[in-house]
Amino acid sequence: MFMKNCWYVAGWSSEIGADTLVARTICGKRLVFWRDESGQICALDDRCCHRGAPLSTGRKEGGTVRCMYHGFLYDATGACIEIPGQAAIPPKALVRRYAVVERHHWVWIWMGEASTADESLIPDTHWLDDPDWACTKPGRLHYDVNYQLVNDNLLDFSHLSYVHANTLGGSEEYAQLRSKIERLPRGLRITRWFMDRPPAPFVAKLLKAKGMTGNVDRWNNYDFILPGVLIMDSGFAPAGSGAERGDRENAIQFRHCQVVTPETENSCHYLFAQPRNFDKDKPDVSEALYHSILTAFEEDRAVITDQAQNLAADPLFEPVACGLDSALGQFRWLIAQQIKQEMAADAGAPRAEVVGERSAKFG
Ligand code: FES
Ligand SMILES: [Fe+2]
Repeated sequence: MFMKNCWYVAGWSSEIGADTLVARTICGKRLVFWRDESGQICALDDRCCHRGAPLSTGRKEGGTVRCMYHGFLYDATGACIEIPGQAAIPPKALVRRYAVVERHHWVWIWMGEASTADESLIPDTHWLDDPDWACTKPGRLHYDVNYQLVNDNLLDFSHLSYVHANTLGGSEEYAQLRSKIERLPRGLRITRWFMDRPPAPFVAKLLKAKGMTGNVDRWNNYDFILPGVLIMDSGFAPAGSGAERGDRENAIQFRHCQVVTPETENSCHYLFAQPRNFDKDKPDVSEALYHSILTAFEEDRAVITDQAQNLAADPLFEPVACGLDSALGQFRWLIAQQIKQEMAADAGAPRAEVVGERSAKFG
């Protein structure tokens, strides 16, 4: 069961070329993405309304797509506009279309009714293409676990001390800290400062090259937004230089953008990139950071995949909650609440809305 009325990241803009049909499953729905003649990305159910063949294995014809089983042709709204050997197109000859927005290199899709899509709810990730920030190349991992296990991981950074001891973490003291957790309208804000300690392994060399050889103040402050979007202000500054009060002059800063998008109940997509405000013209720094981060995220994937297999092996296992679980408990509650509200709204929806849904598919 997934939320429908929210924006999921379907992929990187660069994954959808001018001439390609891209198949991707999101929230259990098999979808096809392509660009129309103006370059806009469209998304439809990846299932021809005739006899159900996938459109993603069809043929792109300009801004339209032809099913290569019996030749039905669809426009970007999902309307069938041609049936070989037949002039009349039945009114039901359409496939569902989804609202899509391409923004800052990410392709966002609204899994609810397209006419209700609210672009103002798309989280701000402008650092991904802001010329004042340098970004690592597009990152992507695939998980064979339910997406909420990955969200859980991102909502509790105490694991840095153990899972990432040689990459992002470096000290067991980090796990002793408790983050400040605040509620946002559609998520949580998490604040964590780690003062006057040696830097994390993944930046030690970078800091040394800048003459920062001593202890540092470190911060990991992020918003975690439904359905699983992490936008983090993080960085390292010389210990005691005032970064906590806003003095970032001698700091190196990142604006990590990461997103977890469910594929099925037992798999998900994970996209990430690390914009930074230093060494902006150094591709070797981008490359080194990308590989450091990828190594760390593979560490996450290994432990979370093992965890999922353990949980699947014994459905009666009861986890023992502790203080570390506060943020992830709250976030799971937010997701459950929204699903409950959407189910109640669907159950009470008058028949007219269902009919309206069909006409909206053409719009
Ligand atoms: S299944 Fe697509 S045209 Fe027949
Ligand atoms: Fe991690």
